[in-house]
Amino acid sequence: MNVLIIGNGGREHALAWKISQSLLVKKVYVAPGNAGTDLDSIIENINITDNDLLIKFAIDKNIDLTIVGPEVPLSKGIVNKFIENNLYIFGPTSEAAQLESSKDFSKKFMEKHSIPTAKYATFTNVELAHKYIQQKGSPIVVKADGLAAGKGVVVAMTDEEAHNAIDLMLSDNQFGDAGARIVIEEFLQGEEASFIVICDGETVLPLASSQDHKRLFDNDQGPNTGGMGAYSPAPIVTPDIHNKIMDEVILPTIKGMKKDGIKFTGFLYAGLMIDKKNKIKTLEFNCRMGDPETQPILFRLKGDLFKILYDASMGKLQENNIEWENNSAITIVMAAKNYPNQPIINDEINGLDAINEDTYVFHAGTTLSNKKILTSGGRVLGVTAKGKTLEEAKNKAYKLINNIHFDGAQYRNDIGKKAFK
Ligand code: AMP
Ligand code: GLY
Repeated sequence: MNVLIIGNGGREHALAWKISQSLLVKKVYVAPGNAGTDLDSIIENINITDNDLLIKFAIDKNIDLTIVGPEVPLSKGIVNKFIENNLYIFGPTSEAAQLESSKDFSKKFMEKHSIPTAKYATFTNVELAHKYIQQKGSPIVVKADGLAAGKGVVVAMTDEEAHNAIDLMLSDNQFGDAGARIVIEEFLQGEEASFIVICDGETVLPLASSQDHKRLFDNDQGPNTGGMGAYSPAPIVTPDIHNKIMDEVILPTIKGMKKDGIKFTGFLYAGLMIDKKNKIKTLEFNCRMGDPETQPILFRLKGDLFKILYDASMGKLQENNIEWENNSAITIVMAAKNYPNQPIINDEINGLDAINEDTYVFHAGTTLSNKKILTSGGRVLGVTAKGKTLEEAKNKAYKLINNIHFDGAQYRNDIGKKAFK
């Protein structure tokens, strides 16, 4: 079988790495990929991003399954187009992807189907938005409606921050169209967890739990990023909480989408806040795997991911189950200087060879140039390790990081710390 993976981040490197281990798979192409996928002998990068050209490629190369990593091509309807061309692809249609591409859509959907989430209001009018803050007060959360690469959320601890966020989004157009409509919601407290499932529209197969670290600096300080590190499993997701998440969030979402005439096929990611009383609220939906959550999750996955996704793309997920290694895995993101703002790129990366069977370095913003590996994006590497315990995995990953060098590298020193409470 031939597989095409769309995307160029750490998530896509991890997907390509896992899919290429399937005995059913002959060749994996990644469009456009990064230096990590380029260096792998079974994986081939192709420099195509245009949808029509990707479809032509899939037909010419007899691609049996296409897997979409990021949200932008999903929201632009890549799945709709592949299906129109009778090609198998795993991911939601643009209609289903609205669960991620519009916060207003997802909040209305949750309200309609009684899925627990923070109270909210939606605004396009700047004065009304400011008035709402005056009424509600801080802390409060201001979110751009559309896609903003994980940067469109301001958790405002003061009224001033909330008013500024409104001005940035609605008046100064900082996020363009994505911020022309905003959702303002109640501030929630608790511990976050990422819960991702595979779905074929009917059957749901949950992946192992994980926890991301969104803020740039240690102790959850600094700006929000796409994610600076993750580990799996997340101890907060006990078997009871797992069942609660399935019953209160995941299954009502899949059933609700079907009822609304928008079947959801793909990875569904629920970002959750779990409070001290184990009450669960949904912070957001993503219609794809998380990055960096994918890296530690797939590092623990036993068995054949290709077969599961191939069956899911044909509506036959019920024939599959999923098994996990009885261990913990962790990924620590090394990001470029100045990330999450305009990152400094083109710095040479050294020291990537020290991996063993318990460690791996997934590439994200990297590129090959004259046999050198250079930084090419904000999040550069996902340094990944597994161990019998999270502590062991964490120590291995930080040991590996000590070997790796590029100018201005920034990473958090406390990934996994919350799990040790
Ligand atoms: P989102 O993209 O909606 O998941 O938001 C990004 C991050 O902002 C989340 O991972 C949380 O850390 C934080 N956040 C979002 N919504 C809320 C909320 N209602 N209360 C507190 N923190 C939030
Ligand atoms: N790491 C969070 C996300 O992928 O949205």
